[in-house]
Amino acid sequence: MGEGIEQIKGEAIEALENINQQADLEAWKVKYLGRSSAIMGVFKSLGTLSKEDKPIVGKNANLVKVALENALILKEELLNQHAIYHTLEEEKIDVTLPGRKTASGSLHPTTQTLREIYKVFGDMGFQIYRSQEVESDMYNFQLLNFPLHHPARDMQDTFFLKSSQDRGEDPLLLRTHTSPGQIHAMREHTSKYPEDPPPIRIILPGMCFRYEQITARSEIQFNQVEGLAVGKGITFGDLKGTLSNFARRMFGQDAKTRFRASHFPFTEPSAEMDVGCFLCGGKGCSVCKGAGWLEILGCGMVHPTVLENGGFDPEVFSGFAFGMGPERITMMRHHIEDIRYFWANDLRFLDQF
Ligand code: PHE
Repeated sequence: MGEGIEQIKGEAIEALENINQQADLEAWKVKYLGRSSAIMGVFKSLGTLSKEDKPIVGKNANLVKVALENALILKEELLNQHAIYHTLEEEKIDVTLPGRKTASGSLHPTTQTLREIYKVFGDMGFQIYRSQEVESDMYNFQLLNFPLHHPARDMQDTFFLKSSQDRGEDPLLLRTHTSPGQIHAMREHTSKYPEDPPPIRIILPGMCFRYEQITARSEIQFNQVEGLAVGKGITFGDLKGTLSNFARRMFGQDAKTRFRASHFPFTEPSAEMDVGCFLCGGKGCSVCKGAGWLEILGCGMVHPTVLENGGFDPEVFSGFAFGMGPERITMMRHHIEDIRYFWANDLRFLDQF
């Protein structure tokens, strides 16, 4: 009988060793430890044994049963570990593989031009002054010496804000240029220093809006960079020196500049500055339309009325102002033929910069 029990054990252990998945363990348990298993058969048959054999066989059968139960627990653990190892194997990452490239954006071409402009004027001691995009008629026109119904106001077609219609003579609008910022800056400055205001040297960048037909040459939304210097004894020579220096820094040391007389209600005298076409060197090309010159900005000496509106005594103080369009400058530099690209969000365009 003892041999029989050892055989039962041997068979069961062998069968257990051959199992390699959790699902088969249950069947093994039924077969080798279940109610109709061989080892249970031994227990059932104990009653038929002799008085001497009974305790020995019973003890041996019990040892085998316990051994099989322990073997089962060990096997379960082993299979569990295998399963974990397997998932780890499957999920393992090859850290030696090259990484995937993430697409990186780039600065918008206008932003790049703006930053260059800030740098050039920053080096000349100009600070940046930010001013609001929603303006009143008063600031956008009247305080800049465009009287009500003045024909000069036809120069700029304006987006008026509906809710402001009941403001009568001073409706709200989207600023058509950055020049109203001049008044804000001067008023802030002269109310801070009512006695003897120190000089102002600022640039005022920002978005402007005009109610116009969108074409290759004009957009309803665009940037401007305004400049303003006010102090004692500031002359047209300072204006020319500052802007010529700007042109050289921006367009190259050989950049030629010329000033043409012009008109703006808020400057007197007024001028427009051209730079020699940096694409053809002045010979005449499609960008400069054969002229050899490119118009870069409007400028002039701040009109006495405007100085006064800013809180400065025009008998004591003088100043110059200028305004330029960074999109226009970007178009000229990169030979961009259509201003609509700037707002089109087309990556094929933007990726080039
Ligand atoms: N505001 C003018 C324009 O929009 C530009 C300008 C600014 C001209 C300052 C002279 C002085 O065209």
